[in-house]
Amino acid sequence: MQLKIFVGTVTSTASYVAQEIKMECADLVSSIEVRLMDDLDISVFAPAEARDALYIICTSTYGMGDVPDNAFAFYESLDLQPRFLGHVRYGVIALGDNSSHSKTFCFGGKKFDARLQDLGAHRMGEICYLDAGNEALPEMRAAQWCREWLSDTLRTISVQALHGE
Ligand SMILES: Cc1cc2nc3c(=O)[nH]c(=O)nc-3n(C[C@H](O)[C@H](O)[C@H](O)COP(=O)(O)O)c2cc1C
Repeated sequence: MQLKIFVGTVTSTASYVAQEIKMECADLVSSIEVRLMDDLDISVFAPAEARDALYIICTSTYGMGDVPDNAFAFYESLDLQPRFLGHVRYGVIALGDNSSHSKTFCFGGKKFDARLQDLGAHRMGEICYLDAGNEALPEMRAAQWCREWLSDTLRTISVQALHGE
């Protein structure tokens, strides 16, 4: 199983988070690919690629609860080129700041999650929320979260395979 992490960021915290996961979780999957969202569109979820892949949306939040600029075209493509994503299994790491933006806390990650669910994709586990106002080492906590998330998700997938789901 491959892990593909798509990063939405302005000041690189989400990139550090993804790189830490790449280092700390390498033993749990066959490969980990980290990509900035800049040049992505919905075609990254093509069925042939998704069959042997798990995805993580790792994104911060800007403006009034918007996705970062580098994530905008990718996010918009989920609206402009909609297609059924029932073959996609994904997790979300949402970065934000609850002390200064409590009304739109982590909306970047939440918006991706809502849109992917609308298209039929399956979120595995709960969203990992990283609060910049409260988290000294977000990349450490994210890597720990991801190890548990991968173990749980891979177990769920093998049970589903046993039952022919
Ligand atoms: C101008 C500005 C607007 C922001 N707006 C939000 C917001 O609406 N909601 C939120 O939860 N965090 C908001 N944040 C906090 C960032 O999402 C947070 O600091 C995050 O860790 C940055 O990650 P990055 O370095 O990967 O871009 C904002 C930060 C800035 C500087």
